[in-house]
Amino acid sequence: MTETANSGAQRQTWTSNRGFILAAIGSAVGLGNIWRFPGVAYDSGGGAFLIPYLIALVTAGLPILFLDYSIGQRFRGAAPLALRRLTKRAEVIGWFQTMLLFIISVYYAAVIAWALSYFYFSFGNKWGSDTTAFFLSDYLHATDEAGVSTDLVAGVAWPLAAVWVLIIVILALGIANGVEKVNVIGIPLLILGFGALVIRAVTLPGATDGLNALFTPDWGALTDLNVWIAAYSQIFFSMSIAFGIMIAYSSFQRRRANMTSSGLVVGFANSSFEILAGIGVFSALGFLANQQGVGVGELEGLTGPILSFVTFPAVISEMPGSVLFGVLFFGSLVIAGFTSLVSLVVGVSIAVQEKFGLSQRTAAVTVGVVSAVVSFSLFATTTGLWTLDTVDQYANNVGVVLSAIVMTVSVVWVARKGDLLRRHLNAISTFKLGRWWLVLIGIVGPIFLTVMLVQKVIDLISDGYEGYPDWYLNVFGWGTVGLAVVGAILFTVASWGGRDDKDFQAWPSDEFLEGQKR
Ligand code: PFF
Repeated sequence: MTETANSGAQRQTWTSNRGFILAAIGSAVGLGNIWRFPGVAYDSGGGAFLIPYLIALVTAGLPILFLDYSIGQRFRGAAPLALRRLTKRAEVIGWFQTMLLFIISVYYAAVIAWALSYFYFSFGNKWGSDTTAFFLSDYLHATDEAGVSTDLVAGVAWPLAAVWVLIIVILALGIANGVEKVNVIGIPLLILGFGALVIRAVTLPGATDGLNALFTPDWGALTDLNVWIAAYSQIFFSMSIAFGIMIAYSSFQRRRANMTSSGLVVGFANSSFEILAGIGVFSALGFLANQQGVGVGELEGLTGPILSFVTFPAVISEMPGSVLFGVLFFGSLVIAGFTSLVSLVVGVSIAVQEKFGLSQRTAAVTVGVVSAVVSFSLFATTTGLWTLDTVDQYANNVGVVLSAIVMTVSVVWVARKGDLLRRHLNAISTFKLGRWWLVLIGIVGPIFLTVMLVQKVIDLISDGYEGYPDWYLNVFGWGTVGLAVVGAILFTVASWGGRDDKDFQAWPSDEFLEGQKR
């Protein structure tokens, strides 16, 4: 195998495989691990949830991660360019994924802004004893009901501005000098900080009650389709797969990178962090229940924003020497969230840069400013919490599942590139993929995901979500999915201003891979 001169040699790359792995872990480990996983696991059968979770990891998580890797690394572009090079008609899937990234990034940034404020509040337990009232009224100034408001909340707007300014600077610095550096510093820091927090948490009085609550299996849950749906969506969100991010990140890998082995490392690290977070969070909840003389099951607010911003502050208030605990918790949330946000915005910015032939700086600043404006106007207002909750639900349970189905079916069945990608990965990686991989991404995955999607859509149509008014769900829920579809079409029909597939030659060549037996 020899590389040819025009095989994309000018493309910037990570400085090392380690840089790529850290950045991929940085993208995967995020708010989803600390803020989402513990509550989802608790709600969905406790210890028994680990079974569907691990099955989802092996049957869909890792296989689709490898698919993302192979597309990005072979076709060397963010999702729209890479998929276009795979087959021209697939560009639109890339833009659908890019739209989802944009949508998620604008609210994800707001949660990081809250965490930044709470990091600061930790120094004086500023939330007092009524942590619910503090979060909803004193901090967010949230309206009583879902709606639309233009009143900016200064306490959210300032940290949010800081988040976006930093993001723009990092993106403008580029992949190796910006994105990679943030992760090389952030990930070890996160492991140390969060590790210390978990050690403290498991030694608190009552910790065992919390762990029992999380890990005692409810086997009956295994027959509930919703539990399986929860496991698959958790895996997707948490591993950042089928969003196009891993396509973009692996497009900056060198030509001879060991892709599948890196994927195993990233997948294992992400799930380990997730389970560690479950242990830390539930030990702390066991402590809270113990202090209040109630069972863990009687505590309220064990999921979503409420868990991190209402229940956790309540835990901290009960603790002697609580400043450090709060600082570690909210500091971890900020770092984990920030490295994921970087990846979300990079995905959008590189896609726009390649399509319109912009410089990296221009793309970073344009995408950063547009995202920041949307982020402020929707999520730094007094209705931000409600909008965020709704957009999150639809983007993640409908949008990304749809993206995964369309992408796997198009690659394997329409373009018939599944086996080529398998040989591509095998030619450069030490962990070889057998034909079982094609079965997983081409048959098992799409079937499971379609069942999930249909069930979810039926639920959303018949039951709505969280009792929000219909008009609200239509605008911010279905509207989100609609916006992603319309945006995807508009970006696809816009003409290419940048380099596209004309001078592109994949490496190793198709002919070489044809000759590979395995
Ligand atoms: N994986 C991140 C988390 O667990 O919080 C969220 C995320 C990042 C989702 C990047 C999607 C993505 F492209």
